[in-house]
Amino acid sequence: MVRAHQLTRFPLNGSHITLDCEACHSPSPQGQLTFVNTSTECVACHGVQFQSAKSPDHVALAFPQDCSQCHAPTIWTSARFNHGATGFPLTGAHVAVLCQKCHVSGSFTALSTACVSCHQPDYVATTAPAHQPAGFPTSCETCHTTAAWAGATFNHTWFAIPHHTATQCVDCHTNSANYSVFVCTTCHTQAQTDPRHSGIRGYVWNSTNCYGCHSHGGG
Ligand code: HEC
Ligand code: HEC
Ligand code: HEC
Ligand code: HEC
Ligand code: HEC
Ligand code: HEC
Ligand code: HEC
Ligand code: HEC
Ligand code: HEC
Repeated sequence: MVRAHQLTRFPLNGSHITLDCEACHSPSPQGQLTFVNTSTECVACHGVQFQSAKSPDHVALAFPQDCSQCHAPTIWTSARFNHGATGFPLTGAHVAVLCQKCHVSGSFTALSTACVSCHQPDYVATTAPAHQPAGFPTSCETCHTTAAWAGATFNHTWFAIPHHTATQCVDCHTNSANYSVFVCTTCHTQAQTDPRHSGIRGYVWNSTNCYGCHSHGGG
């Protein structure tokens, strides 16, 4: 009979194999088991578990009622949801984040993948450097990965970073509230730089002028 069962639309596997027939085919008033019209939908038999699942809270999170999207009929605690198959694979710090931290108010659909859609408050709260007044773009991924906020990189296509000993943003951007401000002359002292420009027309010992002639960093 168990072998015959494999030919139905509901092959028995996992924990289902060892169950008594009665567990799914309840007796009719006449005492015989009923086999016809048994629903194959997980939720038809596991509605109670769905309602009571608290970690994560399936009802509050509005999980789909098709359990097989995340569960095999083995044990409930080994859910496998392949997030890599969505448009937003979980990487870096996101791997350890609870589902409901991103899927707030039970939303599993139409969630934006844009960093700023979830991290706008973090952007506004930054102080070192203060992103908003400094006019940083809100495309966080330009400078950050999901690993950590610290250790940001910025690809100056027009001025390659790191530039010799200038490796930190603050080495040139001395005003953390305005990144259009930069200084070259802290390192390139006048005593050192003037002699390298003898005879060069238009030379002035001034950061804006340095950048005007050396906009790509290199000589
Ligand atoms: C985990 C639940 C489960 C267990 C345990 C189970 N069944 Fe089923 N059975 C089902 C489901 C669901 C269907 C409906 C499959 C379908 O519609 O194709 C079904 C269908 C059947 C059918 C076909 C009914 C028809 O519509 O033609 C028979 C016969 C049957 N089971 C017999 C058994 C017997 C005998 C056992 C014990 C050895 C058993 N089943 C154990 C869930 C179960
Ligand atoms: C026709 C009824 C029926 C259907 C349909 C059904 N199950 Fe079950 N399942 C049972 C019964 C009865 C048990 C044993 C009692 C229990 O643990 O609830 C069981 C046990 C389980 C268990 C083991 C629970 C534990 O704690 O050991 C898992 C996991 C499970 N089912 C998952 C599923 C999934 C996933 C589906 C859909 C693909 C499904 N079931 C469809 C009746 C069903
Ligand atoms: C979107 C994915 C998803 C769907 C769909 C889903 N679950 Fe879960 N479920 C999970 C995750 C994730 C866990 C946590 C698993 C773990 O600890 O490995 C879990 C855990 C559970 C647990 C154990 C946790 C607890 O608090 O009791 C039960 C029971 C459970 N699910 C039942 C169901 C049932 C029944 C359905 C279908 C009616 C279902 N789930 C549908 C993802 C899902
Ligand atoms: C760091 C944030 C984050 C975490 C943590 C997270 N998700 Fe997601 N999830 C997303 C985003 C963003 C999308 C939208 C992806 C897309 O558009 O393709 C998504 C999509 C989904 C979808 C697909 C919805 C659909 O439209 O088909 C499901 C289901 C889902 N997540 C379940 C989970 C479960 C279960 C967990 C926990 C085990 C989890 N997610 C953890 C951000 C997250
Ligand atoms: C769907 C919402 C969502 C999206 C989209 C998202 N994140 Fe997150 N992210 C979270 C949540 C929730 C956390 C957990 C910490 C928290 O609550 O801020 C987190 C944590 C982080 C952390 C670790 C923060 C810490 O304090 O250690 C970094 C770094 C991060 N995200 C970067 C990014 C970047 C870069 C992107 C875009 C590529 C992005 N995130 C997109 C929701 C999201
Ligand atoms: C132009 C580059 C750039 C962009 C774009 C950017 N950041 Fe940053 N961010 C930085 C730099 C540089 C640091 C300092 C890194 C360090 O201290 O190692 C930083 C630090 C942070 C910090 C920690 C410092 C603090 O004061 O709290 C957070 C949080 C942060 N960024 C969030 C964001 C978010 C959210 C976005 C997108 C909405 C974003 N950033 C976009 C460059 C950028
Ligand atoms: C060696 C010096 C130097 C270093 C180091 C440096 N920058 Fe810059 N940065 C510049 C120069 C020069 C400009 C061009 C300013 C302009 O054209 O207005 C600039 C421009 C910018 C701008 C555009 C500002 C605007 O308003 O147009 C941003 C954003 C920026 N830098 C971010 C960073 C970040 C983030 C870091 C650290 C990861 C960094 N920079 C490190 C020299 C530097
Ligand atoms: C943190 C120190 C530091 C800052 C700030 C700095 N530089 Fe440099 N720079 C160096 C060092 C060290 C060298 C290599 C030694 C040398 O040639 O003086 C160098 C070399 C150069 C050279 C020679 C070409 C090359 O790349 O080897 C140019 C041109 C130059 N810097 C321009 C600038 C400009 C323009 C700025 C401001 C936007 C700037 N530097 C800011 C440290 C710095
Ligand atoms: C009017 C344009 C101009 C200005 C302004 C200018 N430079 Fe230059 N600089 C040059 C030229 C031309 C040379 C020699 C040719 C070359 O090596 O590129 C040169 C050479 C250098 C060199 C030596 C490059 C090497 O490969 O050895 C350094 C370092 C340098 N400049 C840094 C600076 C700094 C720092 C400033 C600002 C204080 C500055 N320059 C301002 C045009 C300028």
